[in-house]
Amino acid sequence: MFAQLSSMGVWGVDAYEVRVETSISAGLPGFDVVGLPGAAVKESRDRVRAACRNSGLQFPKGRITVNLAPASVKKEGSVYDLPILLGLLLASGQLQFDPSDCFFAGELSLNGAVRPVKGLLAMAAAAQTAGLHTAFVPAAIAAQAAVIDGLQVFPVETVPALLAHLTGKQPIQPMAPPAYSLHSAGRFPDFADVVGQQKAKQALEVAAAGGHHTLLIGPPGSGKSMLAARLPSILPDMTLPEAIQTTTLYSLAGQLPADTPILTTRPFRAPHHTISAPALTGGGKTPTPGELSLAHNGVLFLDELPEFPKNALEALRQPLENGVVHVSRVAGAQSFPCNIIFIAAMNPCPCGYFGHPDQTCVCDAKTVRRYLNRISGPMLDRIDLHVEVAPVQFHELHGAVKRESSAQIRQRVNAARKIQQQRYRNIGISCNARLTPALVRRFCELEPAARSFLQEAFDRLGLSARGHDRILKVARTLADLQGAQNIGRVHVAQAVQLRSLDRKYWPS
Ligand SMILES: Nc1ncnc2c1ncn2[C@@H]1O[C@H](COP(=O)(O)OP(=O)(O)OP(=O)(O)O)[C@@H](O)[C@H]1O
Ligand SMILES: [Mg+2]
Repeated sequence: MFAQLSSMGVWGVDAYEVRVETSISAGLPGFDVVGLPGAAVKESRDRVRAACRNSGLQFPKGRITVNLAPASVKKEGSVYDLPILLGLLLASGQLQFDPSDCFFAGELSLNGAVRPVKGLLAMAAAAQTAGLHTAFVPAAIAAQAAVIDGLQVFPVETVPALLAHLTGKQPIQPMAPPAYSLHSAGRFPDFADVVGQQKAKQALEVAAAGGHHTLLIGPPGSGKSMLAARLPSILPDMTLPEAIQTTTLYSLAGQLPADTPILTTRPFRAPHHTISAPALTGGGKTPTPGELSLAHNGVLFLDELPEFPKNALEALRQPLENGVVHVSRVAGAQSFPCNIIFIAAMNPCPCGYFGHPDQTCVCDAKTVRRYLNRISGPMLDRIDLHVEVAPVQFHELHGAVKRESSAQIRQRVNAARKIQQQRYRNIGISCNARLTPALVRRFCELEPAARSFLQEAFDRLGLSARGHDRILKVARTLADLQGAQNIGRVHVAQAVQLRSLDRKYWPS
């Protein structure tokens, strides 16, 4: 009176196999679920019981124990409803089939319908890795599982329909793999639309090539928002594992559209400045990804940075540095990845014209200071590139200069990324921005002239150790963009330039 089936759980963004073991023995009637079940899993007993009866089946008599193995990991969600019900039917002899090659996932409604669950794409990918070849999943989202090669996916509408299939009475048609493409060319606004702003465009090319966080600062209407929105158009196409991770985070946050089995372009998230700290970093009763993680593998853009609540900005510091955000709630703690490029834009003062070449600023010195000081020193320190976006001149708007398209810029970015992939292939990082201090020592070797230039800049500008490392990382990216093996003086000089703004607006 024992049965075992495979299902999947999701922890963070990674799925792992959960074996649903069912035992029915003689004795007082009872129905226990063990193996660290969360609240939703405990409630599964009531749903399974009702779905069983309302599907015209007999709920087994006797003492029922369901174990979700491995018992050491906490189980969340309603995904185990379907495998628990099938386990009961197998263990009580009401159903016969071999489940050893199959994976099951689905929430049950009380009338036996099979409802969607979160994170199905990651589960299907993990099922394939675990060597399973057949998936029985909720029909409404079955296309997600069908994305994964080598998995035969059966979309399940209801429990009776699944039983008719398993007993050979009425086979379910397997789901055809959905058509999708990870080529993102032409799917974002293009840099060719932006007039002038050559320096800012170059800075964003560096940001894209090395994964560097960037601050754009300048007067109203100079094109900051426009520039930021174009960053995804020069990033490399997503890889399949990246797409699976980002899709899973959207699914866990309940933001994956029902008709989208997989996200195929890098996310660009631009939350409004009224957002709360938990909505930015992640929160909810059970930990749910926030904007930081929804931007995973893409871009998080905070426009009008000083307007964001101070606690929200401070909460960004650690995740921006580590690429992971830890969310702890009463119902448990989770870590979600946030491997992002962070872009922030701001005016230099409330009226926007402080430091403007021809307009006069109407703010007094104290107001300007208070405004700029909303961005703390440690926060600024985590942003590799500080870029001034100057106002566009009339002649530029009317000139007939041919502007570079995103596709052209992207070729250079891709080449620089390839060099980094090759260099860091055994290290587990993807780009220069993720170099730790120890790795900076190892990979950012300076030519002698570059070293003496940096030493001079270090003394003259009073750089911090963190600022020093950031300059080296940016210099590494500049060298990679040129295909240069070593970091030369010119790369260091440009890197120092790309961080000089904070000394103009935030003199210590
Ligand atoms: N460099 C530019 N090339 C072409 N159009 C531009 C440029 N700069 C600004 N514009 C035009 O001005 C509009 C406003 O630009 P944008 O919103 O990017 O400015 P901003 O710097 O973000 O201003 P604010 O500080 O007010 O947010 C754009 O939608 C675009 O039509
Ligand atoms: Mg703007």
